[in-house]
Amino acid sequence: MDGSGSSSLALEDEKTVSRVSLDTAAGFPLTLDEHTGHLEFPQGVSVGSVSARRLEEMRPVLADPAADGPEEWYVMYRDVGSADVRRRAGAWRLRYDLTVVRPGVAGRERIKTAGHDHPLKAGTGVTYPEIYQVICGRALYLLQESSPAASGEAGRPREVVLVEAGPGDVVVIPPGYGHVTVNAGDGWLVMCNWVSDGFESLYGPMRAARGAAVYVLDDGLGGWMLSPNPRYGAVAVRCLRAGALPGLDSGAVPVYRALMDSPERFAFLSYPERAGEMFARVQAAWRAVAPVVVTA
Ligand SMILES: [Fe+2]
Repeated sequence: MDGSGSSSLALEDEKTVSRVSLDTAAGFPLTLDEHTGHLEFPQGVSVGSVSARRLEEMRPVLADPAADGPEEWYVMYRDVGSADVRRRAGAWRLRYDLTVVRPGVAGRERIKTAGHDHPLKAGTGVTYPEIYQVICGRALYLLQESSPAASGEAGRPREVVLVEAGPGDVVVIPPGYGHVTVNAGDGWLVMCNWVSDGFESLYGPMRAARGAAVYVLDDGLGGWMLSPNPRYGAVAVRCLRAGALPGLDSGAVPVYRALMDSPERFAFLSYPERAGEMFARVQAAWRAVAPVVVTA
């Protein structure tokens, strides 16, 4: 065998090994290319838009805005689904998105999403909620109270919650909370969300405060630690595991399939003003956990 033949064989092997099926966890045929972190979709599943968030756009929300880090941080696939799922979800004005967040750090800070708040739903006085489900990898969902009217004082959210989640876990973002997702593991984090298609997220408030109230840093031992954002001062954080929280009980069912089976269970995402009791249960579970004060 000549040299060129063996090298192309090796490349082919590498290509095969790098593609991981996420079918079972996603609930539809989905493949992750572990070399690039990009997703591959089968025929019949369409993707409305694809966009990547890069280091330069992330600098305003980093613990160290001058830190060295990877060029591409995460890729968002918006409005994903088969014609059937889109039809069922569309009846409730819902959209399914996927996000892939790379592992690693910038300086000491773990790779994360930019973070945003959700706007008020017109005429209701409540902001839109959202649900996430981890498909593979480990995530930290950092939620902080975002409504100025609900804050204890200007620039300091009254409540900050950090939810650790793994494959299959569902995390509810109730009305009134902004959120950031951090890749807490050493592999790609793939997560999906169902959300109302009736709004655009607000990136300005967190950007103006240089991120959320705490930064998640690598602890040097393969784990993570919290560091306060000086723009907010010392902050109390409730740290929980997703499995201990109520909310949308999807069991082991991917939320993509759960919506196919009974889309009306997701109506609260478009009609949060009618679902106060559900959000109150989630918040009651948070408040059963004593907060830790994060100081410099
Ligand atoms: Fe969101």
